Amino acid sequence: RAAPIEPLPPAGTLEALRTEARGCTRCPLHCKATQTVFGEGPENAAVMFVGEQPGDQEDLAGRPFIGPAGKVFDAAITEAGLDRRRLYVTNAVKHFKYEPRGKRRIHQKPNMGEVQQCRWWLAREIDLIRPKLVVALGATAYAALTDGREKLGDVRGRAMTLDTNRLLFVTVHPSYLLRIPDARKSQDENRRFVADLAVVGDLMR
Ligand code: URA
Repeated sequence: RAAPIEPLPPAGTLEALRTEARGCTRCPLHCKATQTVFGEGPENAAVMFVGEQPGDQEDLAGRPFIGPAGKVFDAAITEAGLDRRRLYVTNAVKHFKYEPRGKRRIHQKPNMGEVQQCRWWLAREIDLIRPKLVVALGATAYAALTDGREKLGDVRGRAMTLDTNRLLFVTVHPSYLLRIPDARKSQDENRRFVADLAVVGDLMR
């Protein structure tokens, strides 16, 4: 017996966009990835966080920022007094890009062509959520949101105008914090990330 057909969500809604994104073939990344990892969070969120692309665990679970970088993100937002349940969290690129190495899948940075193709989804997420503030986590998200080629250090930590209705705030990607070998520097950089997120909290209000 045929499986019952699920009714499609109404056109022009976030749910419809999410359903449409499941079948995305705009760039070749869908070939190797398990699934599209779409954004997650309330439709009326005041703040949208944009990461780079799903990692290994996100690819398997179909949810953004639930792996190691997600744990760093969760700890930092909590320390900064933010509640993830009130945030919309998404990525610049919605499929996991990797190279297999033995049993492991090694993350690869998406190229600008892939980022450009995936902007189609990001732009629609922004249109539907209409956040007051968009937070770019790292250089890929910043490039996806602005085309900007500035160094992250030059744009980090201050609110900029994204368009007439929205502010943009730029900070580092949580994975950067996982890659710092020196314990002292790691602690300092973690503190700085939390301080950035506290500014996000202030801008939200
Ligand atoms: N890194 C990202 O940029 N996004 C995720 O969802 C997970 C890791």
